[in-house]
Amino acid sequence: MFGFFRRKKVETAPPAVSHIAFIMDGNGRWAKRRGLPREAGHRAGAKVFQRIVEYCLDIGIPTVTVYAFSTENWRRPEKEVDAIMELLERYIDDTFSKYADRDVEIVFVGRRDGLTPGLIEKMERLENESRGRKSRVNIALNYGGRDEIVRAVNRLYEEGKLPCDEASLSAALDCAGRPDPDLVVRTGGDLRTSNFLLWESAYAEYFFTGTLWPDLTERELDRILSDYARRHRRFGGL
Ligand code: IPE
Ligand code: IPE
Ligand code: MG
Repeated sequence: MFGFFRRKKVETAPPAVSHIAFIMDGNGRWAKRRGLPREAGHRAGAKVFQRIVEYCLDIGIPTVTVYAFSTENWRRPEKEVDAIMELLERYIDDTFSKYADRDVEIVFVGRRDGLTPGLIEKMERLENESRGRKSRVNIALNYGGRDEIVRAVNRLYEEGKLPCDEASLSAALDCAGRPDPDLVVRTGGDLRTSNFLLWESAYAEYFFTGTLWPDLTERELDRILSDYARRHRRFGGL
């Protein structure tokens, strides 16, 4: 009897998510609704980013990728871009450096050029200190999916590794070394990828919520994960 219940529990257990990715959108609108400057939305968003990433790690999701700044976000006013970069720098100092006890490696995916030398130095130090740890947080900064693919192809060309196949191109991407995302969550209500993980998301499940990023809670994420668990992923099969 006891064995029966135990087996049943295993059978109904939701499929594990080994990689979750977030398009953290809606910070600006969150601030506007409160009559605050957009930068205040990014500050609120950064706190939620920390909470949600830690929650994902706590519930056993080993790889988390977050979209922090796109290759297109440079089109925004300089004041806003500067505020986002300052926020990131502060986060590296105050938050990520404390992740040593969490056994998580931090990897910045995206282009390095265009970022300030001070920020690049901090990013590289953090990557070097955390390399090889069990879980992974990818921070997509100055990231574009098309740009990631083009840089990978050019790298393969320089190394004399063309023509390539899917496996060797995957291995040349910034996100290499971890499984592709199972689930991509976009907050903020827009129904598009905005150039995020174009290659890696070929068979990802998407979840779009109208909730603005700073309003996302662990409870809503639980509901999103329950929805994911009910989906049937076929990967082209039946
Ligand atoms: C996402 O929030 C954060 C970044 C793109 C850096 P937005 O700043 O795009 O917020 P909305 O979409 O304008 O509300
Ligand atoms: C996507 O949000 C990029 C990030 C969340 C970092 P955007 O706000 O830049 O996307 P679009 O411009 O609405 O497509
Ligand atoms: Mg937006």
